[in-house]
Amino acid sequence: MEVVIATAGELAALAADAIQGLLATKPTAVLGLATGSSPLGIYDELARRYGAGEVSFAQARGFMLDEYVGLPAEHPERYRNVIETEIASRVDFAPGAVQGPDGLATDLVAACTRYEAAITEAGGVDLQILGIGSDGHVGFNEPGSSLASRTRIKTLTEQTRADNARFFDGDVDQVPRHCLTQGLATIMSARHIVLIATGRAKAEAIHHLVEGSVSAMWPATILQHHPHVSVLVDPAAASRLQLADYFRSTYAAKPAWQGL
Ligand code: GLP
Repeated sequence: MEVVIATAGELAALAADAIQGLLATKPTAVLGLATGSSPLGIYDELARRYGAGEVSFAQARGFMLDEYVGLPAEHPERYRNVIETEIASRVDFAPGAVQGPDGLATDLVAACTRYEAAITEAGGVDLQILGIGSDGHVGFNEPGSSLASRTRIKTLTEQTRADNARFFDGDVDQVPRHCLTQGLATIMSARHIVLIATGRAKAEAIHHLVEGSVSAMWPATILQHHPHVSVLVDPAAASRLQLADYFRSTYAAKPAWQGL
């Protein structure tokens, strides 16, 4: 696990460098796309680089992490629409190249099985962009999630519903109670995971992710078992890291050619 402490703008550029580098060597790469506010700087940077002709997604595929159950197809907060607005429509993904779990399926269990199969058929995710919830969830794998879980239906915690109410006019009652999410084992199958977190509200979760015991109580801690995780944090999100000085000096001494 590599921890990089830098400004939000620097972190977004680093993640975009990793994605641009991947697409340069493997234009058909499969990207894992996260929602939430954390990846927005990365998406802005990728859109800018696409506009400048520096990167193309024409042959790439995208798989979303999660989706609310039951939000109407046209709802702006339906994650399929959020991803379309924030990244897919701003670059040159081919039509149908970005997929997400179908939160409107009549058979939600079958939709989860189909989604796992689609990821496998695409060859698995090469680079997964991840945010983290203040309670340590990744995707919508809330505390208590099986560390071996695959895509399935979950019930959101009241904490997550309250956190996400800001996207629903501040009204927690409008936030769905259920979601479909890639499981922790699904996320762990990605070949490279780039997790980005900013702000003090994420400091405790980042402390557990990097320095805590692996536990379903802090689902992101399963990433300690992954061989290639990049944790990108601003100074506020890093403020509870006991090893912050070590991470800073390690990164300062890192050879420029190495990348994430
Ligand atoms: C939601 C998403 C997660 C995201 C989390 C944090 O619950 N399902 O994928 O990581 O929110 O969101 P934010 O980045 O806005 O803090």
